[in-house]
Amino acid sequence: MDLALLISSFSMQQGLAKQSQQEALYRSLRDMLLDGRIPPGTRLASTRTLAAELGIARNSAVYAYERLTEEGFVAATRTGTITLWDGRGQRHARAEAGPIQVRLADRVHGLDNPQPEPDRMLPFVPGLPSLHEFPILQWRRCVERAWKQIQPAQLAYGPAEGLPELRRAVAAYIKVSRGVRCETDQVFITDGTQSSLELCARMLANPGEFGWLENPCYSGAKTAFQSTGLRIVPMEVDREGMAPLESDWRSRPPKLIYATPSHQYPLGALMSIQRRATLIERARECGAWIIEDDYDSEFRHSGQPLPAIQGIHADAPVCYLGTFSKTMFPALRLGFMVLPPMLVERFRGTLRELVHRGHPADQLAMAEFIDTGLFARHLRRMRTLYTERRGTLEHALAKHLGTVLRVRESSGGMHLSAELNVPAQDTEIARQANAEGLLLQPLSHYRVLDGRAYNGFVLGYAGLTGATIEKSVTHLARVVESHGGIKR
Ligand SMILES: Cc1ncc(COP(=O)(O)O)c(C=O)c1O
Repeated sequence: MDLALLISSFSMQQGLAKQSQQEALYRSLRDMLLDGRIPPGTRLASTRTLAAELGIARNSAVYAYERLTEEGFVAATRTGTITLWDGRGQRHARAEAGPIQVRLADRVHGLDNPQPEPDRMLPFVPGLPSLHEFPILQWRRCVERAWKQIQPAQLAYGPAEGLPELRRAVAAYIKVSRGVRCETDQVFITDGTQSSLELCARMLANPGEFGWLENPCYSGAKTAFQSTGLRIVPMEVDREGMAPLESDWRSRPPKLIYATPSHQYPLGALMSIQRRATLIERARECGAWIIEDDYDSEFRHSGQPLPAIQGIHADAPVCYLGTFSKTMFPALRLGFMVLPPMLVERFRGTLRELVHRGHPADQLAMAEFIDTGLFARHLRRMRTLYTERRGTLEHALAKHLGTVLRVRESSGGMHLSAELNVPAQDTEIARQANAEGLLLQPLSHYRVLDGRAYNGFVLGYAGLTGATIEKSVTHLARVVESHGGIKR
């Protein structure tokens, strides 16, 4: 054994980080074994000699040898400690095999997002509620009370379908507010809509079957369909929502249909009654399941809300998805699915194997937040606030960008979508705007495969105060102008 080499490796290890002598010796020996600097069959110096040479306590050397023995690098024999690990052989085999080729599953190709996480508090971020207005104090009290109530048994794995307290509260709330027809046992708590979408896709469709998406579409739905191996088919939308052609039903019959009938994401159309009825009828005929994403209909700013399509027939093939990301806050990661009666038992049994649900305190706190009326009060406040902010944004857009942006009509939500009337590219404008501190989403990003491309922006307004709206819109107008967009 080359003691000089060990001494230098040992002093290097000691210099690396604060670690004990025994740890440094163990690591030095292990590294030398791993990279072949100590060949197999070498008899190591005795612990006494080693301790004396390194100037450390003998116990430290004993510790290092014992650990290496436990891990199978060395073995204690009658004649001393012998190394077993063939580091050189391993190195040779590794070199022959070459570097590991990373090839992710085809299902996730194209999903890689190389962009750094954006600052989501920047103006125009879509999909976020006003986080500054969230009643943290009230929520914290609910969470604290929940932890006080929690029994040891609730610290085990929770029921896959969620805690009964929250399921009951959700059922009562959506029956009244969204016209959803359901009993508590149809409500399944999830980690949010993204997780509901993935569960529905995994549970209801086989890889290779057709999954219809609205075009343009919420990218989370596309991700869920693609990553579960569905063949994606874009369905164009018009003023009445998703508009499949007769030939689509025949040539690419869907297994899953993702739709946002209450507020098409991102363009904003409300699906007409006629389309809703036809969608359910045709889906039933071809054995498809409709996934209704009702992501923001709590925030309706004009007109009467249409009830969820789930409520049209009690046994319609519709999985209704809701989320607390918009009504509460996204980091809560709580959402729910309301399954049609014929799916309930099948999901319950399988989800028990697929999902281990946790976070009992958040679920109990959410149930209390709903039951005590705090949720309804928060929604009322936010509805008023968002209506006001939306009005201010519409006004500012008309004033500064009226000649270049056509704002699409929609009656609710937390964002506006607007199309460019001029030949400038949304991606180019967004790139510059975002580099200057806005968070613009180009409409073209929501395109599904070869579906129609839209050129414009999705403009979130929930978190924008009056003063910021005017400032951000004039900023955007300057950027659009610099791309030759505004003719004065
Ligand atoms: C259309 C749509 N559905 C659902 C969600 C929310 O998903 P989650 O519950 O996973 O946060 C969003 C978020 O932006 C969305 O835009």
